[in-house]
Amino acid sequence: MGKINCSDKFDPTVDFVNFKGDVKSLLKNIPDQFVQLVVTSPPYNIGKSYEKRTDLSDYLKQQEVIINECIRILKPSGSICWQVGNYIDNGEIIPLDIVLFNLFAKNGLKLRNRIIWHFGHGLHAKKRFSGRYEVVLWFTKSDDYIFNLDTIRVPQKYPNKKYFKGPNKGELSGNPLGKNPSDVWEIPNVKANHIEKTIHPCQFPVELIERLVLALSNENDWVFDPFLGVGTTAIAALLHNRKAIGAEIQDEYYAITKERIKSAEEGRLRIRPMDREVYDPDSTDEYIPPKYIEIGVPSQNKLFDRKNEGDNK
Ligand SMILES: C[S@@+](CC[C@H](N)C(=O)[O-])C[C@H]1O[C@@H](n2cnc3c(N)ncnc32)[C@H](O)[C@@H]1O
Repeated sequence: MGKINCSDKFDPTVDFVNFKGDVKSLLKNIPDQFVQLVVTSPPYNIGKSYEKRTDLSDYLKQQEVIINECIRILKPSGSICWQVGNYIDNGEIIPLDIVLFNLFAKNGLKLRNRIIWHFGHGLHAKKRFSGRYEVVLWFTKSDDYIFNLDTIRVPQKYPNKKYFKGPNKGELSGNPLGKNPSDVWEIPNVKANHIEKTIHPCQFPVELIERLVLALSNENDWVFDPFLGVGTTAIAALLHNRKAIGAEIQDEYYAITKERIKSAEEGRLRIRPMDREVYDPDSTDEYIPPKYIEIGVPSQNKLFDRKNEGDNK
């Protein structure tokens, strides 16, 4: 892929629609059943610098408008991944996936996984256990959906394990392409020392979205993020030869997305590789990359430089 062809308004002929403004304005121009995948982390309504704190029921009403539109623009084979944490009110936590679930289910969407994204860093709570996971609700629009399991398999714990009896005795018992990554994902979150860190307080790690993009869409499909932030969903989609569309209301985050895309085009964008093990300071084992890595992240896309990434240890 050469230069990324961008537009700041809806245009089905470009690679990336990077809209500055309220997502509701962008959605008006997107046709029905246009995108294969919606991936987002909505504003959490917990007082981040970019959001106005609203009452939970108002928040849910606002979310419902966007969710209904996302369902409208989704192809029948498509998926929606809504990544959320907790709404916190006076020390009480309300898991947003629980309160949001019905906004999808009542439209006939089917929950395929409630993925636990576990990470190592965050605030140290004083009056409850420190929160170290968030959730990705993965819904499909129908029973006939795209799920490319072989593109996202991870190394087997014991890759050489063989059947020791029965008709397959001596043959490998696990899938040589690797195992299903399960619904618990151990992926570092983007904190101060992460090589992808920008000024955004809660950007996605690219590798979290890469797994969703590879599994739930095909090349040339459209991937939509209604709350684009600093463009991580678009980067993960473009990296794997999908097309991206998203909206961001804050000027400074919109500008960072443009800068990140430019860095990618020039081969300067630093991304933590999807296949890197999470650093374990107690481990004495040397990490040996799996042999079948070619099917893990087989991107031929030279725009994104993965060789120069720093160390997130
Ligand atoms: C949780 S952050 C998403 C961060 C993103 N996942 C990333 O990797 O950078 C939510 C973003 O939605 C933006 N936002 C909030 N309301 C919006 C709206 N109505 N239209 C477009 N963007 C909005 C906020 O400014 C914020 O950057």
